[in-house]
Amino acid sequence: MLDARLETVLSLIRAPVHADIGSDHAGLPLELVRRGHIERGVIVELNSGPLENARQAVARAGLGDRLDVRAGDGLDPLAPGEVPSVSLTGLGALTMRGILERGAARQVRPDALVVQPNDNPAPLREWALGAGYHLRAERLASGYWTYPVLRFERADGPDPAYDGLPREAARRYGPLLLHEASALLRQQVHADVTRLTPLAAPGRPAALELATAQAALAWLDGQTSLDAGAER
Ligand SMILES: C[S@@+](CC[C@H](N)C(=O)[O-])C[C@H]1O[C@@H](n2cnc3c(N)ncnc32)[C@H](O)[C@@H]1O
Repeated sequence: MLDARLETVLSLIRAPVHADIGSDHAGLPLELVRRGHIERGVIVELNSGPLENARQAVARAGLGDRLDVRAGDGLDPLAPGEVPSVSLTGLGALTMRGILERGAARQVRPDALVVQPNDNPAPLREWALGAGYHLRAERLASGYWTYPVLRFERADGPDPAYDGLPREAARRYGPLLLHEASALLRQQVHADVTRLTPLAAPGRPAALELATAQAALAWLDGQTSLDAGAER
């Protein structure tokens, strides 16, 4: 059983071979194999407790021939070109970005990346823009927080997903999510405006964050007016 967050991640992964980095309980890769989303997987864990959790879970499931559990930091245990698809979930965006940057420096650049950071995903969207990846899917999953789940794929040139959108708002809230304009996204942006308004004295970081949330709200409201106009 996966929670809504990891179900959403799972829905964005299909590959012959996939590596899950920082897997802990190994719930995601086990379900990926069981449901036929992947044929084989690699599980990477940095810390001994979670590494043992993953090893035991794979052994209990009898899937040791399809899931290879490796100790190591980020993408270090992977050889260049070894896996076409990688997931990183449940970590901070800056930690994930560091892992991806160190991997790219060793030429470990999977074709597809699915990431679910626990905080502001903007550093990952910015990294992808400079690293030759385009956003192919974005989802929001409800849970303790509202979790963003992003799928990037390697592609040349500028990412067209950002065309015509306010720059900072698109990096913070997601270009595809802004176009989708779901109730969950509107709720998240409204909550940010409410939370940041009392903190946003001029010159403080919260003032920039508030301006970004307000820009997203203005764009979403503009879309609603356009939709209403089209229906009349
Ligand atoms: C909060 S848990 C998330 C577990 C699972 N991915 C999920 O989303 O439910 C983060 C896991 O990442 C592992 N981790 C942290 N930094 C790592 C790194 N640089 N390389 C590999 N694993 C790492 C931790 O040991 C921990 O098991």
